[in-house]
Amino acid sequence: MASSTKGTRDRVILAYSGGLDTSVMVPWIQEKYNLDVVTFTVDLGQGENLEPIKEKALRTGAIDAVTMDARNLFVDCFVWPALMAGALYEGKYPLATALGRPLIAKLMVDTARQFNARAVAHGCTGKGNDQVRFDVTFQTLAPDLKIIAPVREWRMTRDEEIRFAAAHGIPVEATVESPYSIDQNLFGRSCEAGVLEDPWDEPPADAFAWTVDPAKAPNEPAYVEIAFEQGRPVALNGQTLDGVPLIEKLNKLGGDHGVGRIDHVENRLVGIKSRELYEAPAAVILHEAHRELESLCLTKQAARFKTLVSQEYADLIYNGLWFSAFHQDLFQFVLSNQRFVTGVVRVKLFKGKATVVGRKSENSLYSKKLATYETGDQFDHEAAQGFIRLWGLSQQTQARQQLLKGGKGFDLPGLLQSRDQ
Ligand code: ARG
Repeated sequence: MASSTKGTRDRVILAYSGGLDTSVMVPWIQEKYNLDVVTFTVDLGQGENLEPIKEKALRTGAIDAVTMDARNLFVDCFVWPALMAGALYEGKYPLATALGRPLIAKLMVDTARQFNARAVAHGCTGKGNDQVRFDVTFQTLAPDLKIIAPVREWRMTRDEEIRFAAAHGIPVEATVESPYSIDQNLFGRSCEAGVLEDPWDEPPADAFAWTVDPAKAPNEPAYVEIAFEQGRPVALNGQTLDGVPLIEKLNKLGGDHGVGRIDHVENRLVGIKSRELYEAPAAVILHEAHRELESLCLTKQAARFKTLVSQEYADLIYNGLWFSAFHQDLFQFVLSNQRFVTGVVRVKLFKGKATVVGRKSENSLYSKKLATYETGDQFDHEAAQGFIRLWGLSQQTQARQQLLKGGKGFDLPGLLQSRDQ
């Protein structure tokens, strides 16, 4: 809780992971900016115990260390809206990190108010998307707060950081350093750098942590039934579940079957392409299932238009614009668009693939009586004739008046050649 007695200087709230970078930041910010540091660490389902992180922050010189479990907030207010919107960046990335950043930044702003802090700080580099998401959120919600991003400022190599840490009594774990840059939360894990920087090279086994190699997945498939209400997942295999355990269960089940690996050469906001490896079993299964349920519950026009909304929605999340009126507007569309998306989807998990094999809904627009080729067919076959005559009318007119004028025919190679050829 906020303490007004500890520390004497102005304060900064530092997004703190307990790793080398953010640990070195504690004394670095104190010295460089003459501020007292309050660290902030949040549980978004990354599977870490926050208690030792808090202790480390205090040992490292923070005047206070705030920790928080925001997993439910994360799922209800960030993950579910993104799922309902069908938001996959460039059609692939389920946006785990991109969804987490605005929440962390918002909670840091709240903490800054509690502690009467003047500044906020994070450990993002100057090359990535995360700095954008943090800074834009801070600028939007609290333009008065100064933003400090030490990694963008300092020019320390890893060795210099280790020396700096040693000189300031910060313990440097002897664990072997991962060759990758990793970020994770409940909705997915990302892995980049190291050998992955060559997009031609197949990701080695050590780049994966949540999923088994599909080739080594069980020879028997697993089936899971996911129930949705108005676009939100509410139950697995008939058991009503809150978002957090529902996602945890799907991550485990999908991961065991090698489901959820995504190899993506993506376009970062700062202009570069980067090769990223994602593991997101629950996200992949849920997006797949949700889209299939929509295929029953949305009309053709609504589904077509929704794909445009999905793309805009994914871009705004990726690009750090969560707290915008544009997002509020789009979300109102999504909410309304999802009001009939209620039903159950059966998904088969097998050797790295999540395949929808069944779907049903009380709001289904699928009508067996209209679709069937067997007895009971109620489709009006005669009406088809008149419909087709009108449907093709403008093309027929054009052919007569323009394309086939003067007895010209359509010769096949000529059909698609340019006019001046
Ligand atoms: N490329 C992904 C994104 O932009 C993942 C970023 C992961 N962040 C990290 N600091 N490793 O959302």
